[in-house]
Order: sequence, then C-alpha cells, then structure tokens
Amino acid sequence: MPTHLNTWKTLQQHHEAIRDIPLRSLFDGAGGQSRVAQFSLDAAGLYLDYSKNRVTPQTMSLLMQLAEEAGVSTRRAAMFAGEHINTTEDRAALHVALRAQAGAPFRVDGEPVMPAIHAVLARMRRFSEQVRSGAWTGASGQRISDVINIGIGGSDLGPRMVCQALSHLAGDGERGGPRLHFVSNVDGTELAETLARLDPARTLVIVCSKTFTTLETMANACSTRDWFLANGVRETQLARHFVAVSTNTEAVSDFGIDPANMFEFWDWIGGRFSLWSSVGLSIALAVGFDAFDDLLAGGRAMDEHFRTAPLAQNLPVVLGMLGIWYRSFLDLPTTCIAPYSSSLALFPAFLQQLEMESNGKSVQLDGDRVRTNTAPVVWGTAGTNGQHAYFQLIHQGSQVVPVDFIAPLRPPRELPGHHAKLLANCFAQAEALMVGRSADALRAAGVPEALVPHMVFDGNRPSNMLLMEDLTPHVIGALIALYEHRTFVQGVVWNINSFDQWGVELGKILARPIEAELNGSASGAHDASTSSLIARARAVLRRS
Ligand code: F6P
Repeated sequence: MPTHLNTWKTLQQHHEAIRDIPLRSLFDGAGGQSRVAQFSLDAAGLYLDYSKNRVTPQTMSLLMQLAEEAGVSTRRAAMFAGEHINTTEDRAALHVALRAQAGAPFRVDGEPVMPAIHAVLARMRRFSEQVRSGAWTGASGQRISDVINIGIGGSDLGPRMVCQALSHLAGDGERGGPRLHFVSNVDGTELAETLARLDPARTLVIVCSKTFTTLETMANACSTRDWFLANGVRETQLARHFVAVSTNTEAVSDFGIDPANMFEFWDWIGGRFSLWSSVGLSIALAVGFDAFDDLLAGGRAMDEHFRTAPLAQNLPVVLGMLGIWYRSFLDLPTTCIAPYSSSLALFPAFLQQLEMESNGKSVQLDGDRVRTNTAPVVWGTAGTNGQHAYFQLIHQGSQVVPVDFIAPLRPPRELPGHHAKLLANCFAQAEALMVGRSADALRAAGVPEALVPHMVFDGNRPSNMLLMEDLTPHVIGALIALYEHRTFVQGVVWNINSFDQWGVELGKILARPIEAELNGSASGAHDASTSSLIARARAVLRRS
C-alpha cells in the first residue's frame, strides 16, 4: 500500500516544508540555468522542460524513491514479460509487443506473439496498399475514395486522433489515399451526416470493435449496411465494402463479414492501448503503411527509453511522478492538456480515455479502498483557443491546474508568420503561469488602485513544456507511448489495475431495459426521477 511507505510520509512533510516557496524564486540568479539543465530531458524526439513545476531537487529525488519503493521497476519488468498484470481480467497487457520488431522475445502465456502480430501487420500493409493504389475497388469496380471507421472508445479515439495529427500526410480521396471519416456516437446524426456526403460505390467501412458487441458500433454498422443495400449495393457485394477489426471472429461472421476480411487482434491488448494493432488500419489507409510503421517505430523508441533509462532520467516516470505529486500530495483535482497545434486537437480527448479509464479507480489491487486521490480529471483543447476560453481560470481561478503544454517547433503546414505567433503564445502562457504579476508591478505601471487586486496574477502555477521538432509519425508514436507509460507508472504507484474498466459496465446494463421502455415494449421499476424522465421522453417519442 503506497500510502504506508515511509517515503510517502516524508513527501507529505516535504510538501509542508516547501509549499510556500514561490516557484519563480527557484529561478533566481544562476539557479535558473542549472534548474533548466537539471529539470529537462530528451528522449525519442521529445524534449521535456519540467523546470516550471513546484518541485525542488529534493522533491524529485523523493518522488523517484517513491517510484522505486512502489515497484515501478518491478511492475514495468512484469509488463514487458507478458505477465498477467491485468489481474481482474487475468490477462497480460502487452501493447508494447505491437510495436516491437519481428524478432523480439515477447510471449503471452508461454507462446511467442511476434509471428501473429507481424502476420497481421503484413495483411494490413497489403490491404492498405491495395486500397490506396486502387487495386481494391468497390463492388462496381470504382476506386475507394472514402473510408468510414465505425468504432467507439479505444476503437475510435486513438486512430481518429492520429489521423488528424497526420492529416498533412493524407490524401484527398483521389490522390494520395482515401479520405477518412470516423463515426462513434449512437446518436444517428453523426452517421446520417457522414453517409449523406458519401457515394456507397466508393466507400469502404471498417467495423472496429474489440468485442464486436458494443451497442453503438453495432447499431452504426447495421445502419450503414442498410444504407449500402438501399443505395444499389447488393448483399452479395457487401464484402467489397466491409472489413472488420476485432478479437471476436464468431461475432464478425454472425454480422455477415467474411472472416477473411477480418483483421485480428488479441484480448491482451486493452482498447485504449490498441491503436498500434489492426485498430490502426484506418491510419494505414489514410497515410500509408510506411507512415504507420514509423508511428510504431516511435512507440518502440519510447518503450526502449522507458525500459532502460534510470528512473530519474526516464520521461514517463518523471511525468508520472509529477502527476502523483500534484494529485496525491497537493490535492489538485484536474490537469489540463494544451497542445499548441491544431493537428493535436484530439490529443486531450484521447488522453481522457487513456488516463481516466485506466486510473479512475478507487480500489487497490488487493481489493482494499485506495487511501489517496487517483486520476485527475483530464481536459483541454488546442491552443490558442483555450486562452480565449478557460485560461482565465488557470491564471486567476481559485484552484491550481497543472498544464502540459505540447508544441511542435515546426508546423506541419505553415502560413507566413503564424507559427511564431503560436509558439510565442505557448511559451508566454507557461511563463505567465509561473511568474505571475504582482500588485507592486501593477502600481508601478500606473494601474488604478481599484483595479490592482483584479489584475494581480499570483503566479506559482505549474506546467510542463513538451516540444518536438516536427509532427512526424515517429514523434507522434513516441508521444502516445510516453503518455501510455506515464499512465502505467501512476497506476503502479496508486497500486491500482490500470487495465480494466469495470466502471463502464453498470450504465450499459441499465440502458438495455430503459431502451425497451422507451420503445414501449416493456415497463420497469426505477427511482422516481428516472421513471419521470422515461415517461417524459416516451410521451414525445410517441408523438413523433
Ligand atoms: O465502454 C468502454 C469500452 O469497453 C472501452 O474500454 C473500449 O475501448 C470501448 O468500450 C469500445 O469497445 P469495443 O472495441 O469492444 O467496441
């Protein structure tokens, strides 16, 4: 139990001792230079400056001690060894194997897994090249111009986020590859609006679902099949328009997709860790298999760094332990992800699933309640948009929000002058959060006394700055793997299972009878609030 460790108690006392030291004072004189040198790291194409955090060298050394005592090195070794670290589902969590080279020694339950992984990768390469070259056509012989990925959660967010991040490498439907569309929500609007823009003769659908039972995905897949049938594609021709990504061959076949058109993955890959598997087929279709391969190589470079770098120089460990510091010792409830790149606009949404589904837990591995805070609420949008929305709260609100700024130094697409403006804003926000603006400085600048308290910035607000030179597939792979491992590190320290998600079950179970009640085919007993909501919705549905 981490909270029983001596280092945990020492860190609590240490926090009391340093809580009133203003962050900016740690940069005074020559201290600033050496602080930046001491508190920055380079790995796999990513540069992290973590000097603007409310930590001293002693804090970092205690946090590293905590990481070691909590078992980060041991559990990391167990993950790479394919042990069943997902204890409640009695499975390995071996997403690192997905990006490993063919000869890597990964095994699950004693069986080597690399041959199967690379066999699927080879099929993905073949298929994506056929579609992109026009060798794979729709049933009427026309080239595929549009691909819809139907999936949700891990079967959507990862590939959707990467396709957007690499959109500068994608084609336009005619040249350079098909256009990609993602449909996740069971709200029919998303699917209807997507289909309205497409020509069935030139559309390919990937039904992407680990279980192939997820309500949203199945409903969207069935409606899309109906759309094909209603628009000139015959049942016997559907095979040219539908492929599946799943672990569940039987359900794929029951749905009517030939298992020959199924791209397999395995139950030891968690949904939110799956974009490296055949779940990434949409990425390979959008930007080409070579780019997908580079993404895997970037993930692999971060894996190697995570596996081998000493804890204090280990990017995922340092980021993870800073998160533990803020959540468990400073009691900060949220964290903001601010990518200064519209290409990374979906990265916060991706991290919401990665971190909150993984570490949004209150029970330790042995079933005891946790005695500390676990995952914070993760939120954010692309900069500079956030500056004109919620940054007010981050600068002057009553709660402190640690921010991860993420920025490519060269933009994927440049218009003269834009990128310097973007980067300047990114750096300025981090500087303002840390330095603040004092009442004295405002008075010296002639600000009227009545306005001074409103214009004071306390500063002392922490942030990380994560930079990369370019948004290449390789660096995006490294970035994603960095946050995957950071999430893992935090799960280890909180002593929770980061690889299950029982918390999503109850709502799904309760939705089934409610749906029947809304359709009028059943009645049920609920609390008064739920019953009245159902009655209200039913009254409207009956009229429509
Ligand atoms: O409901 C949560 C969840 O199980 C996620 O963990 C998963 O990524 C998502 O649903 C989709 O599941 P599937 O890929 O099985 O359709």
